[in-house]
Amino acid sequence: MSSNSDSSDRIRALSNSPSNTRALGRALASVLGPGDVVLLDGDLGTGKTTFVSGVAAGVGVEQPVTSPTFTIVRDLGGSPRVLHVDLYRLDHMSEFEDLGLDEALGRDIVLVEWGEVVRPLLGESVCEVLVSYTETEEASSDQRSVEFRLSGPAWSARKDRLRRAVATAGGSGPVMGAGAEAD
Ligand SMILES: Nc1ncnc2c1ncn2[C@@H]1O[C@H](COP(=O)(O)OP(=O)(O)OP(=O)(O)O)[C@@H](O)[C@H]1O
Ligand SMILES: [Mg+2]
Repeated sequence: MSSNSDSSDRIRALSNSPSNTRALGRALASVLGPGDVVLLDGDLGTGKTTFVSGVAAGVGVEQPVTSPTFTIVRDLGGSPRVLHVDLYRLDHMSEFEDLGLDEALGRDIVLVEWGEVVRPLLGESVCEVLVSYTETEEASSDQRSVEFRLSGPAWSARKDRLRRAVATAGGSGPVMGAGAEAD
């Protein structure tokens, strides 16, 4: 059905508030399981950590999610365990291997902000989430685009469930696109 050469499936939604972005995170959480890796990207301050806090709440983590200044990996607990990783201060991709995440990557739910850089080190099944500012008339708009890019068989199998969860995330923004359309 798709002619995309990167074969990723995309689901895009609009968020109009931080709580809306958290609801989209909870939607993703509803299809997550042990061993899943989610890479988050998007400009500074778009809402990656806000999204992560929704995912964490959705998988039952009780502690609040913050943006640590110096910590690269935070164990948020939960079952399956949730790790919040922020690679903003990582200078080189090889440092990622020094974080000792090998075991976690096959067993926990690993949520990685600024994760694009380590995409080549991961297996084929990855969910990437791109949070972006949208072009609106209002300079101070709270509107964001949240796009899920799903790769690999583990995500193909879940994309319809995720699409439904996103559509019912209770957001005020419409679900704009579904499927594998290009930009
Ligand atoms: N629709 C929205 N979704 C998410 N955050 C929003 C939205 N509208 C406004 N905001 C505000 O934008 C900021 C997002 O901060 P957050 O720490 O989640 O971003 P971030 O992408 O993780 O930042 P960084 O690049 O520093 O890691 C918060 O102050 C939040 O209140
Ligand atoms: Mg952040």
